[in-house]
Amino acid sequence: MTRKLLIDTDTASDDAVALIMALREPEVDVVAITVVSGNVPVDLGVRNALYTVELCGAATPVFRGSEAPLLRPIYHSWAFHGRDGLGNMNYPAPASEPAPGDAVDALIDAVRANPGITLVTLGPLTNVALALQRAPEIAQRVERCVVMGGVACTVGNITPAAEFNIWCDPDAARAVFHSGMPVEMVGWELSRFAAALDPDDIARIRALGTPLADFALDCNRITLEAHERLTGARALDLPDPVAMAVALEPEICTRRRSHYVDVETESDLTRGMVVIDALDSGDQADDWPEGGPLISRTTKIGVCWRIDAAAFKRRLVSALS
Ligand code: BDR
Ligand code: CA
Repeated sequence: MTRKLLIDTDTASDDAVALIMALREPEVDVVAITVVSGNVPVDLGVRNALYTVELCGAATPVFRGSEAPLLRPIYHSWAFHGRDGLGNMNYPAPASEPAPGDAVDALIDAVRANPGITLVTLGPLTNVALALQRAPEIAQRVERCVVMGGVACTVGNITPAAEFNIWCDPDAARAVFHSGMPVEMVGWELSRFAAALDPDDIARIRALGTPLADFALDCNRITLEAHERLTGARALDLPDPVAMAVALEPEICTRRRSHYVDVETESDLTRGMVVIDALDSGDQADDWPEGGPLISRTTKIGVCWRIDAAAFKRRLVSALS
């Protein structure tokens, strides 16, 4: 049976690879791509999404969404993705135009029209939070909302405490995490170490010799440098493709648990930090220090703690072949 997917993205280099993985998946129908400000300004994200859709020979509608986070100043990630968001490769302009209408309305319409749809979010959660503000009932109509965002109890990539997507719009992330939507968080750390493409993996992908394989590597060339600068590892981390792999093949997440989770929105030091009650202390109500547990106990969300990195890489290679 064909599964319906909606992808919300701030389309830059690793987003583009994740889009390819979904668009090339035979059993999946990507009903819409909605674009949000994040890695790049929203119009550039739309252009990059359209370009990627065309490269896949698809005709998925691409909707323009929020230009700025709910409450915070706009921030873009030029150093990680280049001035075009695609590794400064100067790809030609896409021939197609964005779909008419606003991404937030498109997201609401798509969920209403396709109960049981899977949402995959690859950028800040602004569009999804706005959709939930306008139509809170959509939270119950989504079967899964796979979120590339946060880090689970470890160091972040934009600050020591936070991962980029959540840091960009922590207020939106908090609203989505508490909305009752069945969120599955796939943190940045899962794309590091064994899941990051090492020089052998990169050579194997280059040897595929397909336009998609070349595009995936070329548009990520600045990300490769940035990852090495940040972590010291000569490897390409692909957080959005990892999240997409978990969305397409849930078994790629080999350890998944539900926990109370909250997002820091007040401190400057830890802005956008995802605080996970990993020991489920919120369920042990007896021994609270005065004032009770500080973590919100509104709702639990799924946290992916571990992935099968080899299975992720196999799926990636197959999408680019
Ligand atoms: C996330 O931030 C962006 O740079 C990537 O596209 C990914 O969505 C990783 O922190
Ligand atoms: Ca992204």
